[in-house]
Amino acid sequence: MKIQEIFKNNQNWIDRKLNENARFFENLSKDQNPDILYIGCSDSRVSAEELMGLSPGDVFVHRNIANMVSNIDLSVMSVIDYAVIYLKVKHIVVCGHYDCGGVKAAMKSEDMGILNPWLRNIRDVYRLHKKELNLIHDQNLKHKRLVELNVQEQCLNVLKTAEVQKAVREDGLRIHGWVFDIESGKLLDLNINFKKDLENIMEIYHLD
Ligand code: CO
Repeated sequence: MKIQEIFKNNQNWIDRKLNENARFFENLSKDQNPDILYIGCSDSRVSAEELMGLSPGDVFVHRNIANMVSNIDLSVMSVIDYAVIYLKVKHIVVCGHYDCGGVKAAMKSEDMGILNPWLRNIRDVYRLHKKELNLIHDQNLKHKRLVELNVQEQCLNVLKTAEVQKAVREDGLRIHGWVFDIESGKLLDLNINFKKDLENIMEIYHLD
């Protein structure tokens, strides 16, 4: 990929968009009013809007290695805060994906330098679900299940924040856990039962 190609692509994209709707950029420049906050992996194969068939202006996006929601990561916490309080999004999606390099790295006992503290958050998910994961002997299936459980735990991390709890109570904000299956291109809804999980964790994390 040549960098100069990107500017040509950009001009082609502008032409295409204006062809479809002459006021596309005029409308886009007015404001943003997305309904969805998408928290996904930085993996180059998992582009947020494209796999959902959505356009600029539709989704507020945060991406990092292995779609983590760490309470000491000022970046993701600011994104959640802004999306919920100011943009008033109706849905927060945490989207993982199979064949995730971050999750794979966390399954190895290898010193990864600066990545160690980040990957440790995924190892913590493994520890929480050790009983279930240790029963799976096929490494690929174990990886897939850890990807799913990691999405579930990151959804719970989203729910642990005060502004999210308030918006769930008062504005009907909904949280969704999804996985993108790279091999088929399909988005899978994990149908996480938040009512059950919420009741389990709220005893500890409830904030008024
Ligand atoms: Co990944």
